[in-house]
Amino acid sequence: MSAPPTIALPDVAAVAEAAAQRVLDRIVDAPAAASAVCLTGGSTPTKLYELLASPRWRPRIPWARVHWFLGDERAVPTESPLSNGSMARQAFLDACAPPENVHMIPTAGTPDEAARAYQIELEEFNARHRKGFPLFDLVLLGVGSDGHVASLFPASPALAERLRWVVGVEHANLTPFVPRITLTLPCLGNTGELLFLVTGQGKRDILRRVFTDEDLPARHAHAEHGETMWLLDEAADPRTTQ
Ligand code: 6PG
Repeated sequence: MSAPPTIALPDVAAVAEAAAQRVLDRIVDAPAAASAVCLTGGSTPTKLYELLASPRWRPRIPWARVHWFLGDERAVPTESPLSNGSMARQAFLDACAPPENVHMIPTAGTPDEAARAYQIELEEFNARHRKGFPLFDLVLLGVGSDGHVASLFPASPALAERLRWVVGVEHANLTPFVPRITLTLPCLGNTGELLFLVTGQGKRDILRRVFTDEDLPARHAHAEHGETMWLLDEAADPRTTQ
């Protein structure tokens, strides 16, 4: 099994702690004047996000100079419990980050229109703050049980996109079955670090497939000129016996 660079930790709490430290390190060491972190949706990162807002971590983060983006969004109203942006805002952004530093994906209009609007927002941020550096300091990603990342599903034409940074996706492969807006592989890979967070026994099978080089979206996501790391808990790690 040719696993990519991986750190396996005992449990979900240890994964959240290690991820928080990596987020902090990337923010503090950021080469550009403004730091940029691209968050992931789904349920796995909630513990990390809550940790960043906790009394132990919150004072360590230079909130004024960190900008927060999102890797994908479901086409649902902003306040829907299914909204990835809403989850991140409630878990830590609303309490900790200046509103002008929070760049959630819009869901007004069609997914393609929303994708174009978010690409413009990313391009403006890039031109203003990231001259010559990768677009992001850190990109977080989870993995779906079908091997998708962000909203790039297996066999989706969006996987082949090389020019656009953000695209609309009409059909999701997994619940919730709503259209999506997603960053593309070149955009997600334009980062100093791409950090996967994967926890729980339910992810062992898909990780086994990803780590044996099956042609799945998760196998194609990596930092093009930076570090790619997989943070797992033991329950998700297909290399251990259970
Ligand atoms: C989404 C996500 C998606 C997610 C994975 C893992 O909007 O659904 O961004 O890519 O990260 O499906 O989700 P869980 O953490 O809930 O397992």
